[in-house]
Amino acid sequence: MKQIKQILKTIRMGPVWGLALGTQAKSFQANPVIGSKLLNRLGLHIFRVLLARGAAWFRWILLAPLVPKALRRRYHKDGYVLIPEFISPDSLLKIRQEIAAYRGEVRQMTQGDTATRRILLTQSCAPLMPTTYSTATHTKLRRLLAYMGGKWAHSILYVQQIHNGFQSGKRDPQKTMHSDTFHPTIKAWLFLEDVSAEKGPFTYVQGSARLSFKRLAWEYKRSITALDTPDGYSEKGSLRADASALAEMGLPTPKPVTVKAGTLVIANTNGFHGRGQAEAGASRLELWAYSRHNPFSLWPGLPLDYMLHVKHRIIQWNWRRLDARAAARNSRASWHLIPPEQMVGAPLKGHHTAGITGTPNKAIDEVANEAADEAANEAADGAHTTDKASSNKKASD
Ligand SMILES: [Fe+2]
Repeated sequence: MKQIKQILKTIRMGPVWGLALGTQAKSFQANPVIGSKLLNRLGLHIFRVLLARGAAWFRWILLAPLVPKALRRRYHKDGYVLIPEFISPDSLLKIRQEIAAYRGEVRQMTQGDTATRRILLTQSCAPLMPTTYSTATHTKLRRLLAYMGGKWAHSILYVQQIHNGFQSGKRDPQKTMHSDTFHPTIKAWLFLEDVSAEKGPFTYVQGSARLSFKRLAWEYKRSITALDTPDGYSEKGSLRADASALAEMGLPTPKPVTVKAGTLVIANTNGFHGRGQAEAGASRLELWAYSRHNPFSLWPGLPLDYMLHVKHRIIQWNWRRLDARAAARNSRASWHLIPPEQMVGAPLKGHHTAGITGTPNKAIDEVANEAADEAANEAADGAHTTDKASSNKKASD
């Protein structure tokens, strides 16, 4: 009987599972086609990885005019860009004051021992948090997010607070190095307070977003074994990589991205990343952006405000739907409402903004210039190495 049910389910769902191959769908567990050992032995997963990467490069080339060349090069080389002093100390202070005074909708979700709190930055936030909203919708920020995300569509932004050691529980799964999905996708953080090593900084494996042969070989093996070695996430398509896996891929050890308040970080989270270990009670406050689209689309997108409003409505509608469903079970949704004053408080006390200078435009140009200088130095080093190698060769000849 069970087998008959399974066969009927396969007949019914087969076309859906098959069509999902052309979407963001990534779970080896939820989709038997994506999780098929036979198909993955034949290279299905690697085919999707390569096809999505090709489409991303097509869109990156079309969107290249949005961002200075040096920043683009740094992004593709390292997998992320870090722009210090992206906002002025004055803006930083105003944003923090606006968040502290905000009394609208705040939601919280816990993973392991860590709580994540968010305010969705919709148009209705503009009168309540004018500086926060104008920073989140600033053209310079939007252009960077559009290029690096490979889609000229406005990203969804939140005010976000990560609160480590919020409750006793399992280890925060985000603290294990992982790749979010099989294709390029971005997350961005505009940090609103200094993030030192004790505060669980964003941690990244430099260069891990590049598709090396070793990375592809590792992904090929994991696509076949993901269902045999479940860790709660890899089988869902977010592959976890421990130190030996990183070594196998020829990647360096993860690097904590410690920053001063006002720094913008945009990362390709197809590369390996995670949250750094943090002291219990440590938290960080940031504007957080997320952008994920159909990985196989060649369409570079259009920056339409209307589409962003629609996305906001869908997110809010879904939250309310899950609230109602949870309430019917006498429970609460995983992203549940909390009193807004819990969003901030302790993290804002004793913060300092000394030493922060600059404006968004200046900061981007400065970083682009630095990246250009660095690229020029690398080119010079490369030429020097080539010369040395060639002279060594001559000597050995
Ligand atoms: Fe992640």
